[in-house]
This record gives sequence, C-alpha cells and structure tokens, in this order.
Amino acid sequence: MDFEQARAQFPVFERLAYLNAGTFGPLARATIEAMEVWQRRDLEQGRSSPSYFADVIALREEVRARIASLVNAEPAQVALTSSTTDGCNVVLAGLDLSPSDEVVTTSHEHFGLLGPLHASRAHIVVAEPDRDAILAAVSPRTRLLAISRVLWTTGRALPVAELAAESGLPVLVDGAQAVGAIPTDTAGMDFLTISAQKWLCGPDALGALVVSDPERLRVARPSYFSQRDYEPDGHFEARPGAARFDSQWIAPASLAGLLAALEAIPDWGFERATAMTEHCRAALAERYEVLSASAQGTLVSWRPNGDPAELVAALHERGVVIRDLPGRGTLRASCGWWTSERDIERLVEALDENG
Ligand SMILES: Cc1ncc(COP(=O)(O)O)c(C=O)c1O
Repeated sequence: MDFEQARAQFPVFERLAYLNAGTFGPLARATIEAMEVWQRRDLEQGRSSPSYFADVIALREEVRARIASLVNAEPAQVALTSSTTDGCNVVLAGLDLSPSDEVVTTSHEHFGLLGPLHASRAHIVVAEPDRDAILAAVSPRTRLLAISRVLWTTGRALPVAELAAESGLPVLVDGAQAVGAIPTDTAGMDFLTISAQKWLCGPDALGALVVSDPERLRVARPSYFSQRDYEPDGHFEARPGAARFDSQWIAPASLAGLLAALEAIPDWGFERATAMTEHCRAALAERYEVLSASAQGTLVSWRPNGDPAELVAALHERGVVIRDLPGRGTLRASCGWWTSERDIERLVEALDENG
C-alpha cells in the first residue's frame, strides 16, 4: 500500500488538515465499517445467543494477541482496558501504596497518570523530565517510577527502560503518546498503558495495559473477567495472566473496529511519521520557538504569537485541527504516517494568516 492509498482510507483528510492524533487519531473507513457489522448483528440478532459470548470472547483474545505483538509482549501479559487512565488506576490500586511510599514522576505528566498517582495515597515526588533529574529524585522510600514514554507536552521521549534498570525500581510507563506513534517494546517496562483512540486510530473508550509479571500485582479493581471461579462471599480465583486485569466488558463493535484499525497500519508507518514530524518541526522553527527536539516522539509543540485557544479556534475555521496545551501557552501538532506535506503547509499558511 503506497502513501496515497493509505491516506485515502481516512475521509477526514478530504476536508481537514487533521493534526491531532495526540487527542484522537483519524478514523479509517474500514474501522467504522467493521464496527457497523457488529452493531448490525447486535441490532438484528440480539446480544445473546449460544455463540454470542463465545464470539465476543474470541474477539477479545484476538485483540489481546494483536496488541501483544505490537509491543513485543506475550498475550498473557496484556489486559484490555478502557484507556490509559484506566490502566494507571489498575496498577496503582494494585500496588497498595501508602503515604510512607514515594513515587517519582515528572513535571510534564498528563492527569491520566497524575490522578491515579494522587489517589494511590503515596507521596508523589515531581522531577524535571530528564534522565538525571529523575534518578536524582529517587530515595530509599521510592517504590515506583511513573513516567511517560513520550511527553504529551513536547513529544520528548524518555528512556524509561534505562531509568528502570539504573534505578532498580519498577516503572509504570504511560504509553498514550508512544504506542502507535514510535516503535515501542515493553522490554524493561513493568507496566505499560496503551490508548487505542490516539495513535492506533481505534475507537474511543478502549485501551490496554501490559503487565510484565501479572502474578505480582494484586487485582484491586476486579471485573467479571478477573475470575475463573468465585465463592459466595466474593473470594475468587483469578484468571491466569494479565486478563485478570481486564477492566470491563468492551462493546464488540469497538473490538472489531480496533482490529480493522490495526490492519490499516502500513509497514512504513513509523518511518514516515518520524519524517513528517521532522518536516513539521523545521517548518515551524522558521517562525516560532519550537519546544520539541528532533528525533523524539511525533508531537510538535511551539509558542505562538497570539492566544493559543483563540488560535486553535481560528485554525479550525480554516480546516486545520491542532490543540493548545492549557496553562502552558503552547500549541501542539500531531504528525502520523498519514500526514501529508500539504497538511503541514496548510498549518503554516493558517498560522501566517492569523499572526
Ligand atoms: C500522556 C497521556 N497520558 C494519558 C492520557 C489520557 O489517555 P486516556 O484518555 O486513554 O486515559 C493522555 C491523553 O491525552 C496523554 O496524552
């Protein structure tokens, strides 16, 4: 599949220079069609039959296996969740941290990680998002590093596996801006969260959590999928592997949509995403202070001349979709394998016209 064919899968590009996969990736026609097939089946044949649950369970296992292969994990290490935030909550609840425990995080994390960190009741130590600063923040009370592989603010990639190895601590990796954007291998990561709706271009309210050693994390937020047998008082025998952390029923339409979305990823995806990110960075750097370094993730952030929120709205009027980062005074463009040179030209033209 060449670039034009791959891009033609996404009707949104017929209208918009859509540069916000960091929030929601573009949807391919095949993704929505796969969802429609399941929704129609639910509509016409009902959501219960001897084969219905078996089919849905088989679909769940197919998604689990596909996600595992995407990040070089075993299917038994993958739990199906609703989001990165959901995955962070599963891990932090299961670790049973107390106020005397410390977790080291960075000053550029998303609330999807920070909220669950706060709820864990551990003492949260905030370091600058930099290898040395993170390691310097570790103390004898540190139980966990909780950091993004790619920062949502600047696209900077952090050496998470190296940090885990050097500190000797477990690491919870927020993979929301990494998985599907840059090659991601779970090696050296104890926990990795995945959002399906961003760089995987999947349906919303769907994600995954990779747990390297599922037996060592307590099932603190059980769902029906967590158990293979249970007692009248709720005691349960956990399912083998990370499936015990499956956080909920997932609409089969969403599972089928994600499988279709994963099918659509071309072999040359990462290479092109990196090249387009660099292209976007260079074009913006001629005009603005760009906060994203070269060869990191696929997000480009810069300091605009006007009010960021007003610029986002003005650019949307011109068919260019980006986002502002509240409180940081910056704008952010997301470049994927689907991004064209023309998208970036449209971004620059629209910015030029709006000061
Ligand atoms: C780094 C990061 N973590 C977490 C999230 C939240 O993701 P989800 O909606 O899948 O919980 C986001 C969403 O933008 C993000 O950028």
